[in-house]
Amino acid sequence: MGFPQVRTRRTRASETWRRLVRETRLTPEGLIYPLFVVPGRALRHPVTSMPGIAQLSVDEAVKEARAAQASGVPGVLIFAAPERKDARASDALDAQGLAASAIAAIKDACPKLLVWADVCLCGATDHGHCGHVSQSGTIENDSSIETLADVALNYARAGADAVAPSDMMDGRVAAIRTRLDSHGHAHTPIVSYAAKYASSFYGPFREAAESTPAFGDRRSYQMDPANAREALREVLLDVEEGADLVMVKPAGPYLDIIRQVRDAVHVPVVAYQVSGEFSLIKAAAERGWIDERAAVLETLTGIRRAGADLIISYFAPQVAQWLRT
Ligand code: PBG
Repeated sequence: MGFPQVRTRRTRASETWRRLVRETRLTPEGLIYPLFVVPGRALRHPVTSMPGIAQLSVDEAVKEARAAQASGVPGVLIFAAPERKDARASDALDAQGLAASAIAAIKDACPKLLVWADVCLCGATDHGHCGHVSQSGTIENDSSIETLADVALNYARAGADAVAPSDMMDGRVAAIRTRLDSHGHAHTPIVSYAAKYASSFYGPFREAAESTPAFGDRRSYQMDPANAREALREVLLDVEEGADLVMVKPAGPYLDIIRQVRDAVHVPVVAYQVSGEFSLIKAAAERGWIDERAAVLETLTGIRRAGADLIISYFAPQVAQWLRT
C-alpha cells in the first residue's frame, strides 16, 4: 500500500498525537550541569564567551548547585581553576584544595545531588596539559596515570559521587579503579571521557577553566576528529578497564559516534554538549538569528536520539525549567 491510502501526516495532526508517537524523550533527570569553581568568596565572574555562565567561588557554586537541584537537575560536574598551579598539580592532590573543597561543600549543602568530579591535571598545572610534561616536552603517560589516580582518590575522599577522568591518557581508568578499590572507595563509579576528540569546540571552556595549554596542543592524547573506529576501540578498552559509564565528547558534531558506541556497549552512554556548542547557540540567539529555546531542545533531542542516555550541558537547569512549563 502507498499513497493515497498511506498518509504519514495522520499521526502528526495535533500535539497530543505527536506526543503519543514521540520516539525520543528529553527529561531533566538525564541532565548534568557543569560548574566552574575559582578561589575567593561571594564571587561570580562572568565567562565572556559563555553568556549566562560564570566562574563561581565555592559559596556561590553551592548556591548554583542548589538552584540546579531545585530546577530538577540530578547532578553537577565540578571543574576547578585553582590559583596554585605547578608541575605536580598540587592543588588537585590536596584535601584542602579548591576542587576537594567545592565537592565537600556542595555535598554538605545538597546531599542528594550527584556531584561528579572532573579528574584531570590541566586546571592545576602551570603548563596546562592534561598529563605530566617530560624534559623533552612530550606528555608522559605512565607517570600521569599515577597522579590522576591520586587526584581521583582525593576527590572520592572529599565525597564525590563519581570521578570523571578527562585526560585521555592510556590506562588511566584501570589505574584509578585500582587506587580507589585499595583505599576504601570500591563503590565510587568512574565516568570515563572515553572518546574525547581534539576539538575546536573547547575554546570557551578554556577561558572558564583557565586551562589553555601553555605550548602545543592536545592532539597527542585527544582523538583525531576524523576517526570513528578508534572511538570504539577507546570505549571498549575503558569498559574493559572498569569504566561504569562512558562518554563521547563533543556531542553535536559526533552523533554517529554516539550511535555506534550505544550499539557497542552495555554501560550508560554520556554525551557532553561542550562549551563551543553552547556558545554557538547563544551567539546566534543574541543576534536574533535563531530561537534559543527551540534550538537547544532540538540539539539535545538529537543527541538523545543518536543514543545518549545522559547529557552534560551548560543549558541543563534552563532546560529542566522549560521541560516543566
Ligand atoms: C579538560 C577538559 C576540557 C573540557 C572538559 N575537560 C577541555 C580540554 O580538553 O581542553 C571541555 C569542556 C567544554 O568545552 O565544555 N581536560
